[in-house]
Amino acid sequence: MKIAILPGDGIGTEITEQAVKVLKALGETFEMESAPVGGAGYEASGHPLPEATLKLAKEADAILFGAVGDWKYDKLERSLRPEQAILGLRKHLGLFANFRPAILYPELAGASTLKPEVVSGLDILIVRELTGDIYFGQPRGMREAPDGPFKGAREGFDTMRYAEPEIRRIAHVAFQAAQKRGKRLTSVDKANVLETFQFWKEIVTEIHAEYPDVELDHMYVDNAAMQLVRAPKKFDVIVTGNMFGDILSDAAAMLTGSIGMLPSASLDANNKGLYEPSHGSAPDIAGKGIANPLATILSAAMMLRYSLNKEEQANRIEAAVKKVLAQGLRTADIYEQGTTKVGTTEMGDAVVKALA
Ligand code: IPM
Ligand code: MG
Repeated sequence: MKIAILPGDGIGTEITEQAVKVLKALGETFEMESAPVGGAGYEASGHPLPEATLKLAKEADAILFGAVGDWKYDKLERSLRPEQAILGLRKHLGLFANFRPAILYPELAGASTLKPEVVSGLDILIVRELTGDIYFGQPRGMREAPDGPFKGAREGFDTMRYAEPEIRRIAHVAFQAAQKRGKRLTSVDKANVLETFQFWKEIVTEIHAEYPDVELDHMYVDNAAMQLVRAPKKFDVIVTGNMFGDILSDAAAMLTGSIGMLPSASLDANNKGLYEPSHGSAPDIAGKGIANPLATILSAAMMLRYSLNKEEQANRIEAAVKKVLAQGLRTADIYEQGTTKVGTTEMGDAVVKALA
């Protein structure tokens, strides 16, 4: 089995190194090949998603991705910015189903900014559609407004759209995910204002008939944002579009107080996937050896489970992560008095040791 390793920028390289170390310690034979992506891709060959990197990603059975982005690329034209690498990979590989779990580890209950009783035991899953919506909808651009009260003025515009098969496939994925968990699915939309999401709601409701064991409810996105901070434990699985999912998943991640702990998976129709931490490249702490590698290590566990069919190895990694937390080891982002502060490499080494 071949794993493409795309470390990217900022802390991406440091945290990916730890996850690779953990994968190597499992005693399996994986073929691993690295390639530059994001700002690193731009430096290496003038494009954030170099052709050779895309080729490797296409060939591989799974992709382990670090993070991309750095302020120094903000002035580049959009098509050359690091973020285009991740958007390009999603689109080219058809990675339409994004799983973003938000789990509160009991050892880290104090890390949340919310009261412990609101978040203790939190375990929710956001299923975000990842290749459609206003992110990719055409037409888009900047132009002279062709009509309306500001006709003739410069304007920027994007297009929100979802085709029926796109909604169907993500709905199926979400219902099936709910079946394996608490059997409750909340579809988040803005059907009160947007045609796209009126349609979304209709299709999701229709598909519900195939999953009578799952309880479905619908929620407007503004209300969902409010409920996420008010009573997040009421959710089990949330399914939503690309744009709303982007926003809600950051909010959900932060409920746990430790975005450095949260993995994610982006899957195609055949469970080939790209696995990455939910956090970004954190250029402010890059190279300091203090970044938390656990989200990336847990992403490797998700990769074993979903793409490589190695549930047992996935469980081993997750158990090892729990063990190091129980031992009191903490990177700076999750450090509390009375625990032991460790760096990126030490944390990776501790997980390897805990695997044994
Ligand atoms: C995410 C990120 C990306 C997104 C950016 C980096 C393009 O915020 O994965 O949530 O908006 O999807
Ligand atoms: Mg985001």
